[in-house]
Amino acid sequence: MTKVTMTVNGKAASGDVEGRTLLVQFLRENLRLTGTHVGCDTSQCGACVVHVNGKAVKACTMLAAEADGAEVVTIEGMAGADGSLNTIQQAFQDHHGLQCGFCTPGMVMSAAALLSENPKPTETEVREYLEGNICRCTGYHNIVKAIMAASGQDVGVIAAE
Ligand code: FES
Ligand code: FES
Repeated sequence: MTKVTMTVNGKAASGDVEGRTLLVQFLRENLRLTGTHVGCDTSQCGACVVHVNGKAVKACTMLAAEADGAEVVTIEGMAGADGSLNTIQQAFQDHHGLQCGFCTPGMVMSAAALLSENPKPTETEVREYLEGNICRCTGYHNIVKAIMAASGQDVGVIAAE
């Protein structure tokens, strides 16, 4: 076992992990941050996306030991301290960007990374950025609308697909 220490959602977190322990396992099982989901075992679905040192990362593709010393943000770190939704989360709610919600944490984390790199993406850029996030319910259209709205852009132009 190896001891890992990282900052998760602004707080110091540490635990003993095996060399093979994935970051997503550490977050869910050691820290009980179960908002980060596991939707596949092939690194395809994106339900496990978190931010590591400011970059969107599929937490099932990284060992916990590789995140030693990192700054990690999970979906639990996105809402306000009083539980209020952030702009992206509110936009998902307002534009019906979710149905079952299983993919939503990963979608929100990917969207946040996109908007920090590219604050006014085009619809095509949003769709391309979400290539690594699979949603089985929504058909993606309302997710794209939500992200465009969260970026402060008019979603009327994509309202009638
Ligand atoms: S659980 Fe990580 S990509 Fe599916
Ligand atoms: S809302 Fe169900 S998988 Fe996306």
